[in-house]
Amino acid sequence: MGKVRMLPASKKLKGKIFCPPDKSLSHRAAMIGALSVGETVVQNFSFCQDTWSTLHCLELLGVKVQALPNQGLVKISSSGKEDLSEPTDILDVDNSGTTLRLIAGITAGVQGLSILTGDQSIRRRPMKRIIDPLRKIGVIIGGRDRDQYAPLYVIGKKPLHAFHHTLEIPSAQVKSCLLFTALWGDGPSFIKEPIVSRNHTENMLKAVGSDIRKQKEVIEVYPGKELKARSFNLPGDVSSAAFLIAAALLVSGSYIIIQNLGLNPTRTGMLDCLQRMGAKIKTFDAREEWGERQGHIAVEHSILNHFEIDREEIPSLIDEIPILSVLATQAHGRSIIRGAGELRVKESDRLHAISENLISLGALVDETKDGLVISGPVRLKGGKVKSYGDHRIAMSMVIAGLIADAPVEVEDIECISISYPNFFQDLQKIGYGNFQIFPDNSLMSPHEQEEV
Ligand code: S3P
Repeated sequence: MGKVRMLPASKKLKGKIFCPPDKSLSHRAAMIGALSVGETVVQNFSFCQDTWSTLHCLELLGVKVQALPNQGLVKISSSGKEDLSEPTDILDVDNSGTTLRLIAGITAGVQGLSILTGDQSIRRRPMKRIIDPLRKIGVIIGGRDRDQYAPLYVIGKKPLHAFHHTLEIPSAQVKSCLLFTALWGDGPSFIKEPIVSRNHTENMLKAVGSDIRKQKEVIEVYPGKELKARSFNLPGDVSSAAFLIAAALLVSGSYIIIQNLGLNPTRTGMLDCLQRMGAKIKTFDAREEWGERQGHIAVEHSILNHFEIDREEIPSLIDEIPILSVLATQAHGRSIIRGAGELRVKESDRLHAISENLISLGALVDETKDGLVISGPVRLKGGKVKSYGDHRIAMSMVIAGLIADAPVEVEDIECISISYPNFFQDLQKIGYGNFQIFPDNSLMSPHEQEEV
């Protein structure tokens, strides 16, 4: 298990950078490619641990996958959703919740038995939220501990019943699972989302010819149309960019440009919140392709004010709350995050993980049932913090290390490759190299490190 020792940033950050391609879109491009007829070419695909899980699962469902990581390219060849076949082995998603919940929706329409499981963290995450609605529409499905957790079994069939469903939790994973099953429906299905979550699945399904409409809060899916494979060129991932944005805002004198970033409004809640905080961030050359807004942003070191975030805004920045919490420690006033109970069932209990870590660095944080209250600005001290095996906690604490007044050691950092394998290289690209990585958690001198 590796760790990193972060020393305070001693000079400003600068430069132009591309962030890793969008992980959410990469999962969906591969899955929708598997449902479409023909060859789907995905350019700027995000090669990280989570998306490899998706590609492996699709291969087990009989899809031809050609991955060319050096070119950032994936090619998916399929004869369409009717030709997916019973998987020849267990579908192991490793750490990827998006893979598990979305693939469950696909296997619902694949005749035969599918078993889905993943690592320890996945097997603790709630699955009843997909099991209950799938069962209602005729899928034979169940899970461990009275249908709460993976491993899951799915016995798919087609056609499935068309359905009406109201999302109780504003989760794009649950919504996307149901959107996929609706494609096998024996009539139109209607999914009501009282609080909007990311709409990438809707955009991409439309782009391959699916008849999907949104009327007020209701998404209508009219099945029957053949999905036609096409090319997708994916933008950068705003959830990964969030760490570089935070670094530039925090380190005095910094100015960076992040190029070709995904700016879909259902994902940019953090940028909206930062505007309210007084952050100097400018968007330019924005354009839209297949419903997805993208563009460049310039980020400048800024003095930040406190913020408040409520339940309705949470889905648009759900993965950014750990790094926003780090920013809150440096913002003037009391920042309040409410209605974020979903963070307790992510890769870790993120509310607990972030508050324990920040408190240990001297921050003023109160953990509430469904949120955090953070007062600032506070000068962070050095110390040892844990990743909790959670990529976004690990990267948030790495960024905290840039502005603490003594070294911050972040343990168990290999989880960073779940979403951002080149994170440390990208920090170097924008001018921060004041860190040492140790191959295991025991402390080694730089001299010993060289010998490894
Ligand atoms: C994701 C949706 C979110 C997010 C996750 C990726 C997606 O989960 O936290 O990292 O790609 O659909 P929920 O929709 O379950 O909140």
